[in-house]
Amino acid sequence: ASITRFPLIPIRGVPLMSYIANSWDSIWAFRPDPSDLLIATYPKAGTTWTQEIVDLLLHNGDAEVCKRAPTPVRIPFLEICSPPPIPSGLDLLRTRDPPRVIKTHLPFQLVPPGFWENKCKVIYVARNAKDNMVSYYHFDRMNLTQPEPGPWDGYIEKFMRGQLSWGSWYDHVKGYWVEREKRNILYLFYEDMKENPRREVERIMKYMDLSVSDEVINKIVELTSFKNMKENPMANYSCVPAPVFDHSISPFMRKGEVGDWTNHFTPEQSKMFDEDYEEQMKDVNIPFRTLI
Ligand code: PPS
Repeated sequence: ASITRFPLIPIRGVPLMSYIANSWDSIWAFRPDPSDLLIATYPKAGTTWTQEIVDLLLHNGDAEVCKRAPTPVRIPFLEICSPPPIPSGLDLLRTRDPPRVIKTHLPFQLVPPGFWENKCKVIYVARNAKDNMVSYYHFDRMNLTQPEPGPWDGYIEKFMRGQLSWGSWYDHVKGYWVEREKRNILYLFYEDMKENPRREVERIMKYMDLSVSDEVINKIVELTSFKNMKENPMANYSCVPAPVFDHSISPFMRKGEVGDWTNHFTPEQSKMFDEDYEEQMKDVNIPFRTLI
């Protein structure tokens, strides 16, 4: 089968892949239930990891139950409606009763208003810009439905200008950050999860109003280690085989580390990026860490 790298079409200034933009009206009209939980991220910030933690918390650490289906079937991806074999989020949601866990990469201003009207819980995960970009670059190489990443130098430019699918990383992390208190958003950092996964799993548990035993928390931390998720066919996206995801170009579970950007940026690229970063982030003070 031949695979199309979808072009980007702006929705309210945010470049989205054409199949998402073409279904925009039905995505925007989606009405969640107040009991639904949204996991929101810029692509490659730690979505799948958080999804696995949340699913395990909801099922008291039961590894077998959490292997009932691959990640995107267990937790519908709101705006994904094509191409197969990634299941359509809206179609899946129609078949599920609340409470549901839902994934999105939409920036704050494009989240369907029903989520805010119904005061749904929202977990946001942010990852430092450089590692996030490196991860996205390799994903754009291996996901043959995403726009062509092109050479690394040009990719940095596109990232800085917000020209990748789902738009600007800067606007994304800032959009949720400034709303986090008003909207009761749990704002997490990938680097914190790496540093102390147990502490972050407990934060997620408390936010979800759940209470699981210490023993179960330890088990969840173990089951959601990078190594274990990489080997788990229900969490490692082997459910999306070539030619959609070509895992031989770059595996979905690639490195799972903090600081891999140092292996990609030249000192000049890093300097240029840092200057632009300071400018784009000067209006907020989000405590990102790049190396731990
Ligand atoms: S997606 O496509 O947006 O849903 O991707 P996402 O899951 O957000 O990001 C994928 C990156 O997260 C890493 N990952 C993990 N790191 C640490 N621990 C665990 N358990 C884990 N699971 C996924 C994954 O390897 C991607 O990062 P990179 O840096 O590319 O390895």
